[in-house]
Amino acid sequence: MMDSLDEVRVEDKVAHISFPEPAPCGKTPLNATGLTKMYGSLEVFAGVDLAIDKGSRVVVLGFNGAGKTTLLKLLAGVERTDGEGGIVSGHGLRIGYFAQEHDTIAPDKTVWENTVYACPDVNEPELRSLLGAFMFSGDKLQQPAGTLSGGEKTRLALATLVSSRANVLLLDEPTNNLDPQSREQVLDALRTYTGAVVLVTHDPGAVKALEPERVIVLPDGTEDLWSDDYMEIVELA
Ligand SMILES: Nc1ncnc2c1ncn2[C@@H]1O[C@H](COP(=O)(O)OP(=O)(O)O)[C@@H](O)[C@H]1O
Ligand SMILES: [Mg+2]
Repeated sequence: MMDSLDEVRVEDKVAHISFPEPAPCGKTPLNATGLTKMYGSLEVFAGVDLAIDKGSRVVVLGFNGAGKTTLLKLLAGVERTDGEGGIVSGHGLRIGYFAQEHDTIAPDKTVWENTVYACPDVNEPELRSLLGAFMFSGDKLQQPAGTLSGGEKTRLALATLVSSRANVLLLDEPTNNLDPQSREQVLDALRTYTGAVVLVTHDPGAVKALEPERVIVLPDGTEDLWSDDYMEIVELA
């Protein structure tokens, strides 16, 4: 009974939050051509092209080891592409990268410090209300981020991303290992966010929330318009 009441309250809160508008950007904030990645003699993928238009929504599919995480790292500039290909940043590009291993959070800094660092141009009351929507308030704000649970770290990382005014979010399996309430929060952020999103996921609910326009299938890098026929592949890991 109490549990279900809590759930209602959480959904209420989520429904009323409005995220800051993504920073303005050009028509195609991120353009990748001929992306190739080698790890030693292992070719993960070769010649992958991907243009991310303003506000567009792309799902990245592929079996485990197909290179989904690697592709996001290249797009985020965390790793370099091999060979001729490259990434061209469009006018005004601001990337928000959600890493599968949460390595974008500073573990020794508090929840509040992490948020302020990630969102330097959002004012304090707005940040507090955003954090509240992601269920961080009171003493929790002073907790070192390294001591948060896995689900809490995911929530914090996503709270900072949607607050940061990034206009291209690169999300690597953002709903993994989340309790149902936190997952609902993340799905709502996916529904509400108006910037571009490149999403790696095996969670059909996350794909539904995103309403993607396009899909890219690794390791071939085949790009296609989204169709619900692809939903079957989403769950294949
Ligand atoms: N730092 C690395 N060094 C060597 N091989 C790696 C490294 N990172 C990933 N790989 C390999 O590259 C391939 C693609 O990995 P990854 O991008 O993590 O796949 P996915 O996210 O689709 O499961 C896998 O075979 C993986 O073992
Ligand atoms: Mg991965």
